[in-house]
Amino acid sequence: MRGVKIIGTGSARPNKTLTNDELAKLVDTSDEWITSRTGIKSRYISDGVSTTQLAVEAAKKAIEEAKISVLEIDMIVVGTLTPDLLMPSAACMIQSALGAVNATAFDISAACSGFIYGSKIAINAIRCEDAKTVLVIGAEVLSKIVDWKDRNTCVLFGDGAGAAIYQESEENKILGVYTQSEGNVKALSLNGIPLSNCFLQTTNENDTDFYIKMDGREVYKFAISVAPLCIEKVLEKANMDVSEIDHVILHQANERIMDMAAKKIDIDQSKFFKNLDSYGNTSAASIPIALDEAKSEFKPGEKIVLVGFGGGLTWGSILFEW
Ligand code: UT7
Repeated sequence: MRGVKIIGTGSARPNKTLTNDELAKLVDTSDEWITSRTGIKSRYISDGVSTTQLAVEAAKKAIEEAKISVLEIDMIVVGTLTPDLLMPSAACMIQSALGAVNATAFDISAACSGFIYGSKIAINAIRCEDAKTVLVIGAEVLSKIVDWKDRNTCVLFGDGAGAAIYQESEENKILGVYTQSEGNVKALSLNGIPLSNCFLQTTNENDTDFYIKMDGREVYKFAISVAPLCIEKVLEKANMDVSEIDHVILHQANERIMDMAAKKIDIDQSKFFKNLDSYGNTSAASIPIALDEAKSEFKPGEKIVLVGFGGGLTWGSILFEW
């Protein structure tokens, strides 16, 4: 089986920021509530920049760092809840903007686990010699699917994009990959488009309801149970002990979830990278943005685990060596 490693990362964010104090002018909330319950202080919000534009900016930085030609990219996988169009896919639009004419490009739907699921596809495609160089992106403009009148959800989310390039390598750096799902519509959902058949003219008042819906407490319970499990599963696959992990990049949803996960699995909290104070939860973009920002702290040979969880429900992890 071929070896695989990450050869470049990049990230992008809109220029506009929205602070907790600014949000408190829109809904009945406060900086104190948001900070103490989530750790979020501010988030980036699109002022017109699209999912494709953010993704292309992140991808260009990753390509530059990897020192490859776009023509070498033979697969583009995009995790997103918020493509600009349902067809063509975000991946095909990004392919066109980059001029990556040799790639097979497609989106996957795995919500906040999108980057982990996409990375699994990339790693397996390279391992079985179906691809040599794969661009994986998580990109979101969640501000267009957030109900800005609902304080339960609107304080949580932000916009951005992150990208990573996986390439074949003589030395394998991917030590473990794990994913799992459990169909559950009640915890976290998004209608997005009318689901009834327009031809039959059925009317359903929910058809106009296209905002993200979340049972926060249920998702919180789910997150604190699967986050430690994700770490255990990849350690098991790599036959490694938890003490050998140097950095954890957990989906940036809530600081309390990170602290609970650290406690449950007995990893020092200082090993958990955090940038959710300035980004909020950017769904599929959260892990690749965090990876891009955390990499300056990594030393060669260190072991890093990426952990995602979200709508679906979906969850998963990747353990790799830097
Ligand atoms: O990427 C997808 C993954 N998503 C997540 O990981 C989210 C997981 N869930 C969470 O992070 C937390 O459940 C939340 C941050 C969403 C909520 O925190 P919580 O401690 O679970 O609060 P709660 O939902 O139990 O609400 C407590 C109170 C309620 O008031 P009452 O019923 O006790 O009077 C809410 O109405 O806080 C109220 N509340 C707010 N108050 C001020 C809810 N949202 C707000 C708000 N500002 N923004």
